[in-house]
Amino acid sequence: MKFFIDTADLAQIKEANDLGILDGVTTNPSLMAKVGIKGDEAVTNHYRTIAELVDGDVSAEVVSTTFNEIVEEGKKLHAIHPNIVVKVPMIKDGIKALKWFSDNGIKTNCTLVFSAGQAILAAKAGANYVSPFIGRIDDSNWDGVELIAQIAQIYSVQGYETEILAASIRSPLHIVKCAEAGADVVTSPLEPILGLLKHPLTDIGLAKFLADAKSFK
Ligand code: G3P
Repeated sequence: MKFFIDTADLAQIKEANDLGILDGVTTNPSLMAKVGIKGDEAVTNHYRTIAELVDGDVSAEVVSTTFNEIVEEGKKLHAIHPNIVVKVPMIKDGIKALKWFSDNGIKTNCTLVFSAGQAILAAKAGANYVSPFIGRIDDSNWDGVELIAQIAQIYSVQGYETEILAASIRSPLHIVKCAEAGADVVTSPLEPILGLLKHPLTDIGLAKFLADAKSFK
């Protein structure tokens, strides 16, 4: 399973990248707004900076909702850097645009996916990634990880090549459960990634090893 970081915060991207386990980055308009990016030029520069920092796919989301506008905006995003993946919302014109991008060799990530039916449509349209938002599904009293397992089963039976990119990750356990359920990629904020490191027995064991090591130094 690939690890992407779900943020537009450069310090956090660098920290995850320094671990040596980062395969890519996902952003969205809310994450861009959170780090104070304003205006077309600033947005373009920020995506370029991220793409130059990380050796992997960087999802940049369109903010258009009609076919022609999504295609025009996606072409501009794609032109920023070869690693930019155009993130397209799961709407009717989004599906048409995903097909257009697929036919024209531009990589895509279909976002705001909350059901298996939507995931089937994204795969049929040729999306490279499909992003089910598992934390938001949990928030609405459904089981987000179950959806990952269902999509993984459908894609395997049908031979769809679209990669399942589990998004809206809220905890280290989400990451583990997504790996178990068959996600190809997990995109997570930094904290749940670092949370995977933690176990009290590791800390206790290390403290004992280091204390004992002093006896033979
Ligand atoms: O990138 C989209 C997704 O990961 C959003 O997560 O926490 O806002 O539901 P969240």
